[in-house]
Amino acid sequence: MKLKKSFLVIVSLASVVYAKPNGEELLKSKCLSCHTMSRPQDISKLVAPPIMGVMRHIKTAYPDRERAIEFIKDYVLEPNKEKALCLPQKIKKFGLMPSQKGNVSEEELDSIASWMVDNLSPKGMMGHGKHKMMRGK
Ligand code: HEC
Repeated sequence: MKLKKSFLVIVSLASVVYAKPNGEELLKSKCLSCHTMSRPQDISKLVAPPIMGVMRHIKTAYPDRERAIEFIKDYVLEPNKEKALCLPQKIKKFGLMPSQKGNVSEEELDSIASWMVDNLSPKGMMGHGKHKMMRGK
């Protein structure tokens, strides 16, 4: 079963990473089971938006480093439609992200969010996708 398999992958990755937690490794083990790092080969297989696309939205909405980190930390623990930067049709397609409370500690999330904001440059994704980024709030 697909779910069982990804659960096993998560567990085994988590145990490898346990000794030396850092943002990149944590991201791989805690987040990339759903989000992919590379541009997807087959969009129909995705269960969540690729991480570069997510970062493009976040950096556009929150150019400030601290606020971008805050947003990620908050969203991962308490996702909801009002906060989401994802387009409504994406949320319809993938469903709302399940809260990662219990899967990731605040400390780990701190490393993950900082690593994402510092290392994932969305530049490569610019112009990928047709929509304009419009957000009232
Ligand atoms: C069980 C699958 C799953 C896991 C695990 C997961 N995500 Fe997500 N994530 C989603 C889905 C689905 C969406 C798109 C819907 C949404 O925005 O809520 C999403 C959206 C996001 C967004 C964009 C929110 C927005 O709409 O603006 C961020 C940021 C994010 N995830 C970060 C993370 C981080 C960091 C982790 C690891 C700690 C993680 N996710 C783990 C499924 C997952």
